Amino acid sequence: MKYFLDSAKIDEIRYAYKHWGIDGVTTNPRHIMNSGKPFITVLKELADEFSDVKNFPISVEINPHLDNYEEMVAEGKKIASLSDNFVIKIPCTEQGLIAAKNLEEQGIKTNVTLVFSPSQALQPARIGAAFVSPFVGWKEQSGEDTNPYIQDIVNIYRTYGYDTEIIVAALRNGKQIVDAAKAGADIVTCGFDVYKTSFYHAFTDYGLNVFRNAWDNTETE
Ligand code: E4P
Repeated sequence: MKYFLDSAKIDEIRYAYKHWGIDGVTTNPRHIMNSGKPFITVLKELADEFSDVKNFPISVEINPHLDNYEEMVAEGKKIASLSDNFVIKIPCTEQGLIAAKNLEEQGIKTNVTLVFSPSQALQPARIGAAFVSPFVGWKEQSGEDTNPYIQDIVNIYRTYGYDTEIIVAALRNGKQIVDAAKAGADIVTCGFDVYKTSFYHAFTDYGLNVFRNAWDNTETE
C-alpha cells in the first residue's frame, strides 16, 4: 500500500520523501492556508522540489468556489501546466465529475475528492479518474464505522477491474491506516504526525530500555 503525505508544508514533505519514502502528496485548501504561504507560492515550491522526480503524484485542489465544469477544467489545465506531477483534485459533485471526465480525456490526471459513499465512488472509476479519495476521519468523528464503506468501494472496484486508485483519506491514527490496508486500498493519505505516531509503540521504547541495560552490563570484549 502506498503512503501519500497530506500536507502543503514543504519542509515536512521534503523530510517525509527523503526519510520515509512517501509515494506522493495530497493537498487541500486548508493545508495551503496552514502553510502560511500564497497558493501559487506553494505550487511553485512543490513543482520545483519534485521537478526531477517522475511519477510522484501531487494532488492540488481547484478553487472550491467554482461550480461549473468549464471553469473547473480551465483552472485544472492551468494548475496542471505547472508540473507533470500535478494531479487535479476535484470535488465529487455532478459538475466536478464532468470536469474530471474532460480533464482525463485531455490527458490530465484527476483525484475526485470529498467522497463519502460507495455510490459517489462509482462514477470517478467509470470516467477513468486516476484517483478517488473516500474520507474516513470526518465520518468516524461523527460516530460512523467506516470500514464497511471502504470495503464496499474496494470490492466494487475489484469486481469491475477499475483502474482508479483508491486513496483512503483524512486518517487520524494507525488503526485507520491498518483498516485501509486490510480492506485492500491502494493508498492512504495522512498528516505528518499521524504517520509518526503510527511508527511508535510503547513496548518498543520499553524493549529498548531493557536492551540498553543489558548492553551496559555486558563486557564488549
Ligand atoms: C485528502 O485528500 C484530504 O486532503 C484530507 O484528508 C482532508 O482531510 P483533513 O484535512 O481533515 O485530514
